[in-house]
Amino acid sequence: MNQIVLASGNKGKLKEFSELMADYGVEILAQSELNVAEVPETGTTFVENAIIKARNAAEVTGHAAIADDSGLEVDFLQGAPGIYSARYAGEGAKDEQNYTKLLNALDGQTERNARFQCVLVYMRHAKDPTPIICQASWEGTIGFAPQGENGHGYDPIFIPAEHDCAAADLSSEEKNKLSHRGKALVLLIEAMKQQGIFN
Ligand code: IMP
Repeated sequence: MNQIVLASGNKGKLKEFSELMADYGVEILAQSELNVAEVPETGTTFVENAIIKARNAAEVTGHAAIADDSGLEVDFLQGAPGIYSARYAGEGAKDEQNYTKLLNALDGQTERNARFQCVLVYMRHAKDPTPIICQASWEGTIGFAPQGENGHGYDPIFIPAEHDCAAADLSSEEKNKLSHRGKALVLLIEAMKQQGIFN
């Protein structure tokens, strides 16, 4: 069986990738189970950070690797928090601290357009000079108060363009159909099929 390491410690992402890739005879391995330590995300773009993570996982394990990098761009804040979404309120900040800081930054603002971005990278090996890079986004606005019980990160304050509720009010099935990550995954699988990576 084709084995690919996922450069993420997130259990939700591992499950989602495993389910989708199983259809193509691919086994997704968690980098944490292969003793891959998380690498500092020192890039200045989602693309660079995804490559840094995929390269690290491929280098340590000797397997092909997939990595994703994602975040929330807010127009009024010139694209912040962007690549710093996970640490907007400081290193190790909790989701609630991050989205509270964002709500405060938009206090009194009516211009609240935003989008999630996701970049997925597939590297055949650590020195792969032509990684497959797929990108997708999810448009919406920032709400005025947190709502909903599902999801993670900024989901309680992100109102998708397709709905009047928050992303945290959607089921994971509904979210996967619309989300930046769900759409990028479809593109990645298509590109991997075209390049003959699946048997
Ligand atoms: P990454 O894990 O380094 O890609 O960091 C992504 C960060 O962006 C997460 O910690 C969240 O704060 C935010 N983020 C990315 N995708 C989503 C999403 O689907 N919902 C909510 N927050 C997200």
